[in-house]
Amino acid sequence: MIEKINYADYGLAKILSDLEFEIFGTNWQPEIILQKIIQNEFIYWIHTTNSKINAYVAVQVIDDELHIIGIGVKEEFRNKNIARELMDSLLQFFLNKDYVCIRLEVRETNIAAINLYKSYLFQEYGVRENYYKNESAVLFELRKLNAIR
Ligand SMILES: CC(C)(COP(=O)(O)OP(=O)(O)OC[C@H]1O[C@@H](n2cnc3c(N)ncnc32)[C@H](O)[C@@H]1OP(=O)(O)O)[C@@H](O)C(=O)NCCC(=O)NCCS
Repeated sequence: MIEKINYADYGLAKILSDLEFEIFGTNWQPEIILQKIIQNEFIYWIHTTNSKINAYVAVQVIDDELHIIGIGVKEEFRNKNIARELMDSLLQFFLNKDYVCIRLEVRETNIAAINLYKSYLFQEYGVRENYYKNESAVLFELRKLNAIR
């Protein structure tokens, strides 16, 4: 089940922070996540099974743009279309609001994520050399006119 988080407390922010750490090895502190959700700067969609969160996509609102700050699925839940369901929810939200684009950066070797974004017609618009340790970031954006879902 996919849901958009409309209310958060410290406990939920801690779960999101721990999940981010499990998937990415880095994380925002729960206090920051909580503050930014309350301020409507971070928006999360989560995927749950039996009330347990096993995947999320999070965006940061920057003026009239949405920036994907993370999409992650726990390893044992991958390849079951969960990322696609999360992206569908994000896209639906994007299409119903006045944001002009969705942007993100991704490691150049992250083929799974790049395929996912390309399947939604995200376009590459730049590269940040060595943005990650010894690895470049590819910058993608989806402008409203190109969004198909
Ligand atoms: C990238 C990630 C979110 C995909 O999640 P997922 O739930 O397994 O993906 P889905 O099953 O919904 O697949 C959706 C699409 O993604 C692409 N994809 C997913 N896994 C892939 C893989 N192993 N190889 C190539 N493409 C892949 C495909 O385009 C796929 O569509 P298709 O099945 O029609 O070909 C997941 O691998 C993950 O959490 N990775 C670690 C975190 C990360 O790197 N996040 C992205 C950077 S922010």
